[in-house]
Amino acid sequence: MKSIICFVSTHHGNTRRVADAMARVLDADVLDLDAEDDVDPAILGEYDLIGLGSGIYALRHHPRLLHFASRLPPARDGAAFLFSTRGFGPPGPYHLSLRRRVEDLGYRVVGEFSCRGYDTFGPLSIIGGINRGKPDEADLERAADFAGSLSEGID
Ligand SMILES: Cc1cc2nc3c(=O)[nH]c(=O)nc-3n(C[C@H](O)[C@H](O)[C@H](O)COP(=O)(O)O)c2cc1C
Repeated sequence: MKSIICFVSTHHGNTRRVADAMARVLDADVLDLDAEDDVDPAILGEYDLIGLGSGIYALRHHPRLLHFASRLPPARDGAAFLFSTRGFGPPGPYHLSLRRRVEDLGYRVVGEFSCRGYDTFGPLSIIGGINRGKPDEADLERAADFAGSLSEGID
């Protein structure tokens, strides 16, 4: 199974750590959308499984990831999973925008993962931020387990 994980991780690199933990288990290629100037999403057509993740920004995934996801090649029998790190609140609603985009293109969403990430946005910096140390080793282990369960469920 050929897998790729595409991510944006601009605030503290929280999501990058999750992406790396998942990529090790899946033996996936990793695409940092901030490091690449202009990635053509068409290159993703050759993958069986696509992971998409970022921090949560104003209640959704990062705009750069959302834009990228909207331009994915239409899926023939493609599978995708979604992930995020976030400051607070339950993850479900935060994933809806991204989920809708990939489902509209015909992808099966085969799993979703989220954990807390260190957050110093705005006034939070005055108190030293929240979720210091997150994602921690336990979060990364959960992320790896999640990725492992995906690779078992997809042929
Ligand atoms: C501008 C900005 C907006 C944010 N908005 C939210 C939000 O709406 N909900 C939330 O749970 N976290 C929010 N956060 C916290 C980030 O989602 C969290 O710190 C995340 O782990 C950052 O991931 P990254 O380091 O991979 O970019 C926000 C952070 C920033 C900087």
